[in-house]
Amino acid sequence: MTEQKWQVHNPQGKQRVIVTQNLPGERWLTILGQAQCRVEVGRGTHNLSSRAIKTALGTRCHGVIGQLGEVWDKDLLTALKAAGGRVLSNYAVGYNNVDLAEATRLGIPLGNTPGVLTAATAEMAVALTFAAARRIGESERYIRAGRFSAWRMDLMLGKLLSRKTVGIVGAGRIGSAYALMMAQGHLMDVVYFSRSAKPSLEARVAAFNRYLTSHGERPLVCRRAAALDELLPVADVVSIHAPLTDATRHLLDARRLALMKPGAVLVNTSRGPVIHEEALVAHCRANPGFRAGLDVFENEPALAPGLADLENVVIVPHIGSATRYSREGMAVLAAANLAAVLQGYPVWNRADITPFLEEQMPRAAPSIVNAEDLGLDICDL
Ligand code: DGY
Repeated sequence: MTEQKWQVHNPQGKQRVIVTQNLPGERWLTILGQAQCRVEVGRGTHNLSSRAIKTALGTRCHGVIGQLGEVWDKDLLTALKAAGGRVLSNYAVGYNNVDLAEATRLGIPLGNTPGVLTAATAEMAVALTFAAARRIGESERYIRAGRFSAWRMDLMLGKLLSRKTVGIVGAGRIGSAYALMMAQGHLMDVVYFSRSAKPSLEARVAAFNRYLTSHGERPLVCRRAAALDELLPVADVVSIHAPLTDATRHLLDARRLALMKPGAVLVNTSRGPVIHEEALVAHCRANPGFRAGLDVFENEPALAPGLADLENVVIVPHIGSATRYSREGMAVLAAANLAAVLQGYPVWNRADITPFLEEQMPRAAPSIVNAEDLGLDICDL
C-alpha cells in the first residue's frame, strides 16, 4: 500500500486540522488559516481507509474535514477524541457515513453542508427524470452507434410528464426544491411523503395556482400522503430525497416497486441503499416500460449485477451536487463549521446559509447536526 502524502498549510497554526482530501476553491483554506489552524491536506484523490485516517490523526488532532466515502464509526471517532478532536466536519449534506449517536456520546460536534447544493441536486433529479422518461441515454447510444437512418414516428417513444403526478419521498430542502421545479416548470401535481407537513411547499404551490387560475388553467394538487404505500400507486414519477437511516434502508424494496405504476419513472439522487438495487434490476427487467434515473447506488462505486445493461435505466456517477458553486460552497461551509467550533462560536443552523458565502461571514458554525443534543449555543434569531 502506498503511503498517503500530505500538504501542510500554515505550519505555525496552533490547532492541528486534517483535511482528508483537497477541497475546491481557496476560501476554505483562508477560513482555517484565520482560525489559527495548521492544515494538513491529503494529496490523494481516493477515499482514505480508516487505518490511514487513524495514522494521520496521530496523538494530536483538533478537527477533521472528512469525505462521505469514509466510515466514521465508533473506532475512528474514538481515535479522533483521543487525539484531542473537538469537531468532525463532513464535506456533504448527508452524514450516514458517520455514527452520529457515537459522535454525540463522545461530545464531538458533527458539521454538514446544507443549502449550497439544494438547487444543483434538485436540478440533477429533474435531469434524470426527463432523461429516463424521454430515453435520453438509450437515444444517445443509438445515434452514436450510427443507427439513426431516418426520422420515424415510432422512434424512442417516451413519456409525457406535463399534467401528471410526481411523488416526492422526503420533502426536505432538496425534495421541496425538486417538487417546485416539477410543479411550476412542468405542471405536475405533487404528492409528498415526509415526516412532517410542508406548509411552505404547499403555500408556494397554492400561490402558483392563483397564477394558473387567473390564466384560465386548472390548478395543481399539492398534498401530503398519509403513507408511502398510498403515494406509490398514484405517482407517474417517484423521486427519492429521504436521507439514509435504519428506517429508510431498502424503503423501496420489491414489494413497494410492485406498487408503482408499471410505466412509472423512479429517480434517486439521495443515497443508494434507500432502494434495494437488486430488486430494482429485477423489476426493470420484468417491466421494460418502467424507467429509473439513478445518481446514487447501493454499494457505490459498484453497481448491482445487470444494472448497467438495462436500457430503461439512466445512471450517472453521484454528481448531484457537482457544480462549481455547490462544491466550493460546500468547502466554505465545511471549513466554517470546523473553524467556528474551534473558536467557540455559536451555531447558526438556519435554513438560509447564504450569509456564509459573503465576504464577511457570521461568527457562527453554519450547520452542526447534533448541536441541540450537545447543548451548543444556537445564535439568537
Ligand atoms: C451530499 O452532500 O450528501 C451529496 O451526496 C454529495 O454532494
